[in-house]
Amino acid sequence: MEKKLLHFCLNGEEMEVQVDPSASLMDVIRDDLEMTGTKAGCNTGDCGACTVILDGEAVRSCIMPALHVMDRNVETIEGIGSPDNLHPVQEEFVESSAFQCGYCTPGMIMSAKALLDKNPEPTGEDVREAIAGNLCRCTGYKKIEEAFLSAAKKVNSKSS
Ligand code: FES
Ligand code: FES
Repeated sequence: MEKKLLHFCLNGEEMEVQVDPSASLMDVIRDDLEMTGTKAGCNTGDCGACTVILDGEAVRSCIMPALHVMDRNVETIEGIGSPDNLHPVQEEFVESSAFQCGYCTPGMIMSAKALLDKNPEPTGEDVREAIAGNLCRCTGYKKIEEAFLSAAKKVNSKSS
């Protein structure tokens, strides 16, 4: 199939990439752009490992056609922090031991960031709702919820 030129903003940088019209956003991010922080899990929209933020909303990139993000803003885990400069959500995941194998973690963190960007003072229920589509097979959701809530406090204390 003839490729099409996709242009979009990824982590604040303008991107242009030739994509297969049937490619998912996840495939373009991981295979074409070689950014593998976004994880591939079920490929059916059920596990949340591939979560990215599209115009402020957490979305499953494995079921999002890549061409759907034309001229839109996408954030991936690579865009929210670096090893030397972690985002508060990343810091709290480390401090709260909110991961074991870590495979679900990038998706969880993107769901957390989308929530905190919209609602800086979430309740436990808000957090549980935000990660309802993110599966974790090893850590248990309590620690993950605690990490979200501590990150919210940290974000708020930094901005006040
Ligand atoms: S890989 Fe996308 S939801 Fe599982
Ligand atoms: S830490 Fe292993 S799947 Fe969540």
